[in-house]
Amino acid sequence: MTEQAMIEIRDLDKRFNTDSGEIEVLRGINLQICAGERVAVVGTSGAGKTTLMHTIGGLDQPTAGEILFEGQSIFDLRGATLDAFRNRTIGFIFQFHQLLPEFTALENVMMPLLIGGVARQQAKQKASALLQEVGLGPRLTHKPGALSGGEQQRVAIARALVREPRLLLADEPTGNLDSRTSDEILALINEMHRTRGLTMIIVTHNNRLAESLDRVLRIEDGRLVDDILN
Ligand SMILES: Nc1ncnc2c1ncn2[C@@H]1O[C@H](COP(=O)(O)OP(=O)(O)OP(=O)(O)O)[C@@H](O)[C@H]1O
Ligand SMILES: [Mg+2]
Repeated sequence: MTEQAMIEIRDLDKRFNTDSGEIEVLRGINLQICAGERVAVVGTSGAGKTTLMHTIGGLDQPTAGEILFEGQSIFDLRGATLDAFRNRTIGFIFQFHQLLPEFTALENVMMPLLIGGVARQQAKQKASALLQEVGLGPRLTHKPGALSGGEQQRVAIARALVREPRLLLADEPTGNLDSRTSDEILALINEMHRTRGLTMIIVTHNNRLAESLDRVLRIEDGRLVDDILN
């Protein structure tokens, strides 16, 4: 590869210690992803997809191996520096969206902006504009408990995109959505790809979604078993 990869994963292993012994969840993953690529991650339940995403996002330390972001090892960053890198660079859509239950939809989406030092009024405008875009204009003041599963997922998507990250890590972002809403969300994400070169890694069980992206990685039993360009 002539151009430096945005993400380079080298010999990544992840093991968990449990009461019933050690579990090997990721085994020797090697991978490069270029800026602007749209990558799907597929594989059966328990294959290690979420663990891989958490590790790429710097949320979980690998047992062995390295993850480089533009040549810089992300696990050399620590504490506040790692938090700042994550907050500035990566938008994360979690498998079980993890919204803050005490805060409204609007406040949940404003949060990354406020943490990033954006003024309250500006954060409010930006967050509400994005919530309008995902079709939640009439639900700004609802707390997550008063939103449907798909609506919560759309709030989580808006929260991940609000700081205009360079890398989107999305763990089944359309899992709870009907096909029309999924298509709309995908169109929004693709628009960010077109206009800002957003790089994305999307875990999905939806073949149609996977085939609409540039590349499909298949993880089975903690190994990368397939890497196909569409
Ligand atoms: N913190 C943990 N401690 C122990 N085992 C874990 C931990 N996190 C994940 N695992 C195990 O690692 C394996 C992979 O989990 P992971 O969540 O990455 O799977 P997945 O591919 O995302 O599956 P799904 O499609 O069901 O979301 C599972 O067998 C799981 O039980
Ligand atoms: Mg998962």
